[in-house]
Amino acid sequence: EMAPEERAFQERVDAGQKIEPKEWMPEGYRKTLIRQISQHAHSEIVGQLPEGNWITRAPTLERKAILLAKVQDEAGHGLYLYCAAETLGVSRDELYAQLHSGKAKYSSIFNYPTLTWADIGVIGWLVDGAAIMNQVPLQRCSYGPYSRAMIRICKEESFHQRQGYDILMKMVEGTPAQRAMVQDALNRWWWPSLMMFGPSDDASVHSAQSMAWRIKQNSNDELRQKFVDQTVPQAEYLGLTIPDPELKWNGEKGGYDFGEPDWNELFEVIAGNGPCNSERLGARRNAWEDGAWFRNGLTAYAEKSAARGAA
Ligand code: 3HC
Repeated sequence: EMAPEERAFQERVDAGQKIEPKEWMPEGYRKTLIRQISQHAHSEIVGQLPEGNWITRAPTLERKAILLAKVQDEAGHGLYLYCAAETLGVSRDELYAQLHSGKAKYSSIFNYPTLTWADIGVIGWLVDGAAIMNQVPLQRCSYGPYSRAMIRICKEESFHQRQGYDILMKMVEGTPAQRAMVQDALNRWWWPSLMMFGPSDDASVHSAQSMAWRIKQNSNDELRQKFVDQTVPQAEYLGLTIPDPELKWNGEKGGYDFGEPDWNELFEVIAGNGPCNSERLGARRNAWEDGAWFRNGLTAYAEKSAARGAA
């Protein structure tokens, strides 16, 4: 039986109204939003590392400039999302501490290595493609600050996906070695990209409640299916083979049947045992420590100017 204020809240959500920071909300709604928004922000920040590895190795100045712009966008996406999380009463320092201690999650996809330049094309195409599939519905999230952050972020994501696909179009028109490099990257990134959408619906602990609160608009499997249906023709256009022997068009359902991702791999990577987890967290911890002098300087300056102002 719902308490009156909870019922009123649910009626607002069901009516498609946006919930704003100062309005009443169930404690569970606040907690699950801090959980999801902070993990989303951590994903943006950690997601800069795999691509950053290729900024100094980009094949042309133009590709370097594009990759720089994309990585910089990701930093901005992280900032929008940390700000959205702060409106729920959590400090940024707390969120960073949760990431650096290994307590907070971030998207599993960023724990894989970027071995060749083709990986940068495949990341733009598949990882940002999956992110777009997942983020477009989040623009309609019931929590105001999160949905507004998503609207801004989605505007920039289409460029991210486009530039990745453009890299691949160039490479598949190149030498056989370049085509093989692209196929190798697809083989390594296909299944981890499907895992970005989360566990299957029957294993998803948050979906039911998140959908009732209009945080999540579609289930994990629904978005994964849409992503596969949209991406297979793009792979065919590039002359690539999707590394899934069970992939087959199903006329009845109007979509592709495809194999099961390796859920054990997903849970292992989430548990911190992926190929690059310690390297990624190490890089973030080092960045935090290396930046301490700068943060301390800013704080000292702010205190001095506040004291001067008060004097
Ligand atoms: N990587 C890491 N953790 C994952 C995961 C993944 N691929 N999939 C699921 N999880 C975690 C969930 O966070 C949850 O753990 P928690 O309770 O400790 O938070 C647990 O596994 C069970 O999963 P659920 O399906 O029950 O959890 P959700 O309802 O939260 O659904 C989600 C998972 C779809 C990822 C959802 O949290 C979400 O939409 N998050 C916001 C968007 C996001 O983070 N997208 C991935 C990164 S996009 C990106 O980085 C931007 C681009 O620039 C690349």
